[in-house]
Amino acid sequence: MRKSALFHLIAWTILTGGSVTGRGDVFTDRVKPLVVRYCYDCHDEETLKGGVNLVGFEAARSLQKNPMLWENVVRQVEDRTMPPRNKPQPTPAEFHGLLDGLKEVLDNPDPAWLPHDPGPHLLHRLSRTEYNNTVRDLLGLDTRPADRFPPDGGGGGGFDNNADTLFVPPVLMERYLSTAETLLAAAPKDRWMTEDPVWYSPESWTARRVLENFCSRAYRRPVPRGEVARLMKLFSEARQAGEDFSHAIKIACKAVLVSPRFLFRIETDRPGTGPVPLDPYELASRLSYFLWSSMPDQALLDAVVSGELESPAGVERQVARMLKDPKARELSRNFTGQWLGTRSLGQVASPSLDRFPDYTVELRDAMIEEPVEFFNGLVRENGSLLDLIDSRYTYANERLARLYGLTNVTGETLQRVSLPDRHRGGITGMAAVLTKTSYPLRTSPVLRGRWILDEVLGTPPPPPPPLVPTLPTDDRVQGGQTLRQRLEQHRKKESCAACHARMDPMGFALENFDPIGRWRERIDGKEIDASGVLPNGEVVDGPVALKEALLRRKGLFVRHLTEKLLSYALGRGLEQYDVAPVKQIISEVEHDDYRTVTLINAVVRSFPFQYRRPAEASGG
Ligand code: HEC
Ligand code: HEC
Repeated sequence: MRKSALFHLIAWTILTGGSVTGRGDVFTDRVKPLVVRYCYDCHDEETLKGGVNLVGFEAARSLQKNPMLWENVVRQVEDRTMPPRNKPQPTPAEFHGLLDGLKEVLDNPDPAWLPHDPGPHLLHRLSRTEYNNTVRDLLGLDTRPADRFPPDGGGGGGFDNNADTLFVPPVLMERYLSTAETLLAAAPKDRWMTEDPVWYSPESWTARRVLENFCSRAYRRPVPRGEVARLMKLFSEARQAGEDFSHAIKIACKAVLVSPRFLFRIETDRPGTGPVPLDPYELASRLSYFLWSSMPDQALLDAVVSGELESPAGVERQVARMLKDPKARELSRNFTGQWLGTRSLGQVASPSLDRFPDYTVELRDAMIEEPVEFFNGLVRENGSLLDLIDSRYTYANERLARLYGLTNVTGETLQRVSLPDRHRGGITGMAAVLTKTSYPLRTSPVLRGRWILDEVLGTPPPPPPPLVPTLPTDDRVQGGQTLRQRLEQHRKKESCAACHARMDPMGFALENFDPIGRWRERIDGKEIDASGVLPNGEVVDGPVALKEALLRRKGLFVRHLTEKLLSYALGRGLEQYDVAPVKQIISEVEHDDYRTVTLINAVVRSFPFQYRRPAEASGG
């Protein structure tokens, strides 16, 4: 090719946003005409149905302005929810043209188009769980003092470790002060005061060693300049006022326990303009709060000092070690319980005790534990994440097993049990989920379907319109109509079908599970009809068919789980610039048979986990 021709080709490519192969722009040529024809009527700047504007995207590159929107478009088109059913539909060829074209553009972006942004520079206050675990590991006190702190809000991403919601109201500051005092009074001395005053060394030398050691563990990094002098001043003043040695030390330690450097996970600023890699101490804290909801232990801090945490292989070794530690159960407990919403079972759902006398506090607690043990088992055994959708085993104790009709389990402790059929295995068959999505006297296929769209597929329906007709509170046949018949009648209206056609069929497939998750064949004497038709025409009849339908959508499930786990690991909601790292994580997981530890390692290796914005550029 002659030089000038090459020059023109390159100039043309840059101007049109196309690729150097001269293929043109997939979005402009193949996708956009279909979007104009089938979507603009309702999604331009003026009509804005559902708040969605698809106008103003001119070339493949422009989709990077809002990749979340276009990923959502792919989901809506793929699921046949858009265009709405009663509107002109694309032909099969157009349908594939639209979908394949969009996926090609979204899955293979030119790296130069991607925002290179690891997310803001955040201050994380320790959540209540993190505070409890941290003082346990720092002082050897398992008294869970933060249970009496005001509750943490659930922020973006829905997790209580989200930096946005972890502000410090005045009442909390008071609690920090009084708690520090109580903790230090109760702390076994020998545990953290590693030095005893000895006759041949001056007392101040010993005090300095003790305070420096305590402070660096509490701050999770080397003690900042000037800090030891400040603490020593407190110590000497207390001594001069007549306090004994250990009490004077405690007075100085109290200052450490109410310092922002203890109460917050602070990533100190370093000069720079682009993304800043975390220093190894910061990485150690991110790791330990992600996997343990607690401070780094000595072995992790040693890995910082030895330089192990500076190599990817070293980080992976530490992750493997940390996941073997019993403290790693916190990841399963805090992540799974909040993701699935099952942690709050005790607070929200309240099956009628008259109708369901089996629903005791002990049974409820076992229900809450089941998904936690399940996820913990996946972590321990590096199992497939798809087991969360469909498995032939679960975790149960005697009480829960009895609810499931299994007779071969004894004792209070949950253990792995194999299931005789495929009805139950996976989160959609777990009693906590089934109970959470029911009313006191009946199931709600609407709530169950909504839960699946929300928590399993990550495709939540829009919030319900304000005036929704109510259904009877009970599932007994009334006026000759079953609950299902009533719901079907409601759904006949097009305006209702927009949402209910997506939710209800998935919920109906679970009708064989009663409001506390027991298997049933009949409701009020009538045989259960557990069939439904999804918007794309797929028929689902019963829980096994539902799980198969969910497995056909495993891409959505894995994306949602990845987004949730990354958000939990970062302690913040995800943004547009996180779309590319999420895709990278998903591709690693897909290439390794959906292994659980692979997901965790990929999250740890990801750009937003390893980097952050410099402080100057934060705020957006
Ligand atoms: C006749 C009007 C109409 C047409 C045509 C239409 N939509 Fe929609 N769209 C809506 C309405 C109404 C909503 C609001 C949510 C709902 O009721 O389901 C919506 C919502 C959406 C959403 C957000 C959904 C969510 O739950 O997050 C996306 C994305 C979307 N549409 C994409 C498209 C695409 C892509 C096309 C063309 C292939 C399209 N729409 C065609 C009416 C339309
Ligand atoms: C924008 C989406 C949307 C539309 C449109 C919509 N709904 Fe709903 N509806 C929901 C959601 C979401 C819920 C679950 C509410 C909850 O979580 O408490 C719901 C709940 C219900 C329930 C209660 C179910 C139960 O088990 O008690 C009924 C009944 C209902 N809708 C009927 C209707 C009817 C009739 C229409 C049309 C006039 C309609 N809905 C339109 C989203 C929608």
